[in-house]
Amino acid sequence: MAAGDTTPATLLNEWRADAGAGAQFSADRGRQLFLKKGSSWSCSTCHTTDPRAEGKHAVTSKPILALAPSANPQRFTDRAKVDKWFRRNCRDVLGRECTPGEKGDLLTWLLSVR
Ligand code: HEC
Repeated sequence: MAAGDTTPATLLNEWRADAGAGAQFSADRGRQLFLKKGSSWSCSTCHTTDPRAEGKHAVTSKPILALAPSANPQRFTDRAKVDKWFRRNCRDVLGRECTPGEKGDLLTWLLSVR
């Protein structure tokens, strides 16, 4: 597993297959999920409400580069990284892992933001 071992399109195809026949991803649902407050955080607490912008970690204040592939082409090209951070961040915010459908919605929205 290394940088460059996947692409946003590959991930979307895999999550679509995992989400089951007829699954349709929605950028609108992805945006709502990103802005929705779960625990005491939402995704936007650290990543800001604009995924083209640099974020800042809510606890450590460390800068976080933009999540949208249009602003940061490195995003969603490293499978281990995507899996690790989706797992950790969804648990932190939602108290559970994100489903393939939710990951597909989120990435569809992030790709739509240019
Ligand atoms: C407490 C702060 C924090 C919150 C809340 C948070 N993230 Fe993150 N996220 C990070 C950090 C730190 C990284 C790793 C550093 C980096 O990649 O810049 C990261 C990385 C990611 C990545 C890796 C993408 C890639 O290919 O490099 C994804 C996807 C992601 N976050 C999605 C989410 C989603 C979806 C939510 C809401 C469910 C969320 N994050 C909430 C801090 C946070």
